[in-house]
Amino acid sequence: MRAVCNAWYPVGMQASSRGTLRRWWDRRVLPTLIDKACKSHAILEERMRWVPQASGDILELGAGTGHNFRFYDVAHAVHVTAVDISPDVLAKAVPHVRTAAVPIELLQVDAQTLPFDQHRFDTVVSTYTMCSIDNIERALSEVRRVLKPRGRLIFVEHGLAARPSTARWQKRLTPAWRTISGDCRLDRNIAALLTENNFALSELTTGTTEGPSIAAYIYQGIARPG
Ligand SMILES: C[S@@+](CC[C@H](N)C(=O)[O-])C[C@H]1O[C@@H](n2cnc3c(N)ncnc32)[C@H](O)[C@@H]1O
Repeated sequence: MRAVCNAWYPVGMQASSRGTLRRWWDRRVLPTLIDKACKSHAILEERMRWVPQASGDILELGAGTGHNFRFYDVAHAVHVTAVDISPDVLAKAVPHVRTAAVPIELLQVDAQTLPFDQHRFDTVVSTYTMCSIDNIERALSEVRRVLKPRGRLIFVEHGLAARPSTARWQKRLTPAWRTISGDCRLDRNIAALLTENNFALSELTTGTTEGPSIAAYIYQGIARPG
């Protein structure tokens, strides 16, 4: 099916104004939207289930405003390197660093080019991030490179729904949705992406959570470098 549009902006708006509007939105509005959208009750329950399982030297991918930080368990987690591409989003994570039980280092880093040595991390954590990374294949290859051979990728991600009618709406709405949501795609099949990019799924749960159905189909589990 053809995309409805490549981007959504008020009719008649010039390309240069669109760029300015988009930059203003991404810098001033998006960090607050991400912060609020990522702390619903259902999402907090998923964080509580998965984040405490992270152990050793940990990389958190697209850490956003730091909602996972309080769930790292000091009994297993030694250190967390929390990266995000957006300095404006990261600024909102600072208060959560101070209250975390585990040492957390915040870095402005692009997940597509991770500045870390091969086989450094025991665990990579990614929650609601794989939808937004532009070249997700490249980022997954970087995750594989920096994970130890027996390391784990713990993921909780929304993506392509199993129900065909919802999936159709996800594909139709993604081009417009990306322009207001920090490039979030509604229609990525996370399980397929992981297996196609040489991860083996040792645990996978899929299903619908609360919220609008286009963003409520969740993939959660553990993947290991294949
Ligand atoms: C929907 S937010 C989720 C934030 C956080 N993981 C959470 O669970 O609350 C997606 C995050 O991915 C970040 N992001 C997008 N592309 C990225 C990239 N290439 N490298 C690193 N972070 C990226 C965004 O800046 C944003 O903070």
